[in-house]
Amino acid sequence: MKKAIILINAFTQSEGELNQPKRMKEELAKLGVEAHIMRNSPAALEAEADFCIFLDKDKYAARAIEKRMRLFNRAEAIETCDDKMLTFLALDCVPQPETISSRLCYSADAPVDGQFLDEAESRLGYPMVVKENHGSLGRQVYLARDRAELCSLATRLQYVPHLYQKFIAESSGRDVRVICVGGEAVACMKRENERDFRSNLSAGGRGEPFPVDGEIRRLASLVSTCLKLDYCGIDLLLSHDGYLVCEVNSNAFFGGIENVTGINVAASYACYILNEIR
Ligand SMILES: Nc1ncnc2c1ncn2[C@@H]1O[C@H](COP(=O)(O)OP(=O)(O)O)[C@@H](O)[C@H]1O
Ligand SMILES: [Mg+2]
Repeated sequence: MKKAIILINAFTQSEGELNQPKRMKEELAKLGVEAHIMRNSPAALEAEADFCIFLDKDKYAARAIEKRMRLFNRAEAIETCDDKMLTFLALDCVPQPETISSRLCYSADAPVDGQFLDEAESRLGYPMVVKENHGSLGRQVYLARDRAELCSLATRLQYVPHLYQKFIAESSGRDVRVICVGGEAVACMKRENERDFRSNLSAGGRGEPFPVDGEIRRLASLVSTCLKLDYCGIDLLLSHDGYLVCEVNSNAFFGGIENVTGINVAASYACYILNEIR
């Protein structure tokens, strides 16, 4: 009998994060795999198993476990996806919104650089999307409607890695979430939020099933190959020129999309993993 570790964050109490390992354990059991859900800890890093499903984002723990067993997703993929700017830089194979990186600042009390804001403003215009490089559930994504708001965000985020991005107005409050397993789009939903430009379900967005077309299939495969992902959720903005890749989640929650589409994402991922390790 094969053994697996499902590693979760040391501190999380979030329902979404606790549902994910439970569902994976269930589906792996149906395939004859005994999986142990463990919180990130020194003992978990030393546990013996045939493979590990890594549902944390702790890049150090990922590297440590990967020395001893196959990690789903791989440590490098998790690290790239956990940083929106690194994801943007890695994904030059697909269309994305125009994006400018913040610059590293380690001088205490450095003033915000007006010339930099001028440049961002003239390239991206208003409203402008500002995102922290690390963030999820729409919580670290902001909209600057004018120079005063841009300046206030830039000041607040001076010491936090972040990026500035063109606001895709025609996609405001709407996007398409695609769940990919082994580079294949296995489930897809459109998310809409009438009250906010962020369509995340956790920010009030509502999901409905959305058909997987040829372009979605192509993007799923390109993104997964480029970022070496076994599993991911891709957010696609609906621009006048077609889909734009907004972000890639290596640990995308599948509870919401399973409910909306009726597709058993956990089963599909478990099945893929077993084929990979055989
Ligand atoms: N450039 C953009 N133009 C329009 N809407 C955007 C843009 N970037 C993000 N959004 C909206 O904000 C949501 C959250 O942004 P995202 O980059 O996916 O961060 P998170 O990791 O918090 O989900 C997206 O699902 C989308 O609805
Ligand atoms: Mg997102």
